[in-house]
Amino acid sequence: MKKILAILMAMMILATCSVAMADAPKIGITIYQFADNFMTLYREELVRYLTEDCGIPAENITVMDGKNDQAEQSNQIDAFIADNVDVMILNMVQSSSAAAVIQKADAAGIPVVFINREPSAEDMALNGNFCYVGADARQSGTMQGNIVLAAENKGDFNGNGAVDYVMIMGDPENVDAQYRTEFSVKALTDAGLTVNELFKQRGDWDQTKGQELAATALTQFGNDVDVIFCNNDAMALGAYQAIVDAGRVVGEDIMLLGVDALAECVEMVNEGKMTGTVLNDHVGQSHTAADAALKAAAGETLEKYYWVDYVMVTK
Ligand code: BGC
Repeated sequence: MKKILAILMAMMILATCSVAMADAPKIGITIYQFADNFMTLYREELVRYLTEDCGIPAENITVMDGKNDQAEQSNQIDAFIADNVDVMILNMVQSSSAAAVIQKADAAGIPVVFINREPSAEDMALNGNFCYVGADARQSGTMQGNIVLAAENKGDFNGNGAVDYVMIMGDPENVDAQYRTEFSVKALTDAGLTVNELFKQRGDWDQTKGQELAATALTQFGNDVDVIFCNNDAMALGAYQAIVDAGRVVGEDIMLLGVDALAECVEMVNEGKMTGTVLNDHVGQSHTAADAALKAAAGETLEKYYWVDYVMVTK
């Protein structure tokens, strides 16, 4: 019996993320900006997992706020390198700055795990022990389109034979914004629907901007608007307020789509206040990123990409 218990306990230790304290690596993390709903959930889970599940002492982990300023974030990364951290987990302000970071980190022999903002394929082909952990944004866009397709009227409330849509984009430098914008609409046209883009503007992932843009579009196009696509839930939360203010009713005369599955948005989907969202799995992504970082810090060579799936969320 004792033997079985011992084996079981050994298995449990193997199954959880666990690093011997003496070997605990020093980890430098920077997030593009703390004032981002989704990245706040991500960051909190990342740090919780590293400390509680992986046993990394909190003092080994430094987490910086990039404040949406690439110059500031580049200084933070330089400081991590000067401090000789064992690994960096980086959510770039501008993914186009990844190349410079890859070269510096490689010269210093420090592995890098990029998260959330995917570097270009060209940069991913550079030399060095680094990887990207994320979700394929094409999937989330396609799922948004499929949610519209699943409705009986396929998103054509005004009966003019087309899906008249408003697109509220994240920061267009970010592939998540590019792909979600493209693939949500592509799902509709691939299914043979006629689409009509009434309005498309960047809301930079921000709730207040989402509200302002949706209000502008609803004022300009009134009842012509069938569907409001938002590249994320924060902007959809803002758009919802604009929909209510315009006297429109989700599910009755308009559709509202987001991405992330923030708790308040899942609640709204259940209540019919949002048509649907897509789970952007911050738990899976943060754990995968932490696991990759710990492996790399222990000297393992990383794969180039680690992908985590999106999941459709409807009533
Ligand atoms: C999320 C957004 C977030 C952005 C930050 C996206 O994947 O869906 O909510 O603002 O990442 O880069």
